[in-house]
Amino acid sequence: MASNLLEIVPDPSALANRAAQMISAQAVSAEGPFTIALSGGSTPKRLYELLADPRADYRKQLPWERMHFFWSDERPVGPDHPDSNYRMAWEAMLSRVAVPEENVHRIAGEMLIAEDAAVAYESGLRTFFRIANDEPPRFDLVLLGMGDDGHTASIFPGSEVLHEKRKLVAAPWVEKLRTYRITLTLPVLNNAATVLFLVSGEDKASMVNQVFNGEPNTFPAQFIDPANGLLTWLFDEAAANKLRKVNLRSQISDLKS
Ligand code: 6PG
Repeated sequence: MASNLLEIVPDPSALANRAAQMISAQAVSAEGPFTIALSGGSTPKRLYELLADPRADYRKQLPWERMHFFWSDERPVGPDHPDSNYRMAWEAMLSRVAVPEENVHRIAGEMLIAEDAAVAYESGLRTFFRIANDEPPRFDLVLLGMGDDGHTASIFPGSEVLHEKRKLVAAPWVEKLRTYRITLTLPVLNNAATVLFLVSGEDKASMVNQVFNGEPNTFPAQFIDPANGLLTWLFDEAAANKLRKVNLRSQISDLKS
């Protein structure tokens, strides 16, 4: 049964700091390889910069040599493209720390056919996690953001990916963006030991309240419910300022009904 945490911190800087504390504590206490799926978009950039900042403690504390970096989703672009989630994380963090090259497992968004990129990434996951059957990989930590439409990773409202039970990685067409995206699927996201949502900004406030107090099973972010892990929501005050009430446990059981 998932256990859940929700924290509201004053601002984006506090959000990055609190997330860095959580990631560092988990990575340092983990034995062996520590697997983390990074989120894209703009919100985590400050966090990534902080983790790599030589003036902060995290860079010295983190066991970069045994951390393995994956992505929750990617845009159909190459690693040098301004829209690349890989590029953002590389520039903000990975190029500034001693992480072995082979520990960086990016999604090949440049592949001409997004479905091929998804199949290739799934094959890489199966090899890395030594998966023989249909059991999804178990990430130590999955970072997620949320759009003002309630999408997370690249699982958008009404997407067929919401019902995907078999694939580990999918390449849905996103009509509102008129593009394909490559994304980890719900079986993978919900098999993580920890899922950490970072949500910042006034523009997310209505959706945050909808996710907790609106119609269940409506917005993709509501489908994130790690079966045997910890779900943590980290908001800054601007993102949480319309949150009427939260009863995490009953909320989760309602979603299931
Ligand atoms: C992406 C992300 C996506 C993101 C949300 C929030 O590739 O865009 O992975 O799911 O987390 O869109 O984005 P912002 O942080 O920019 O608001």
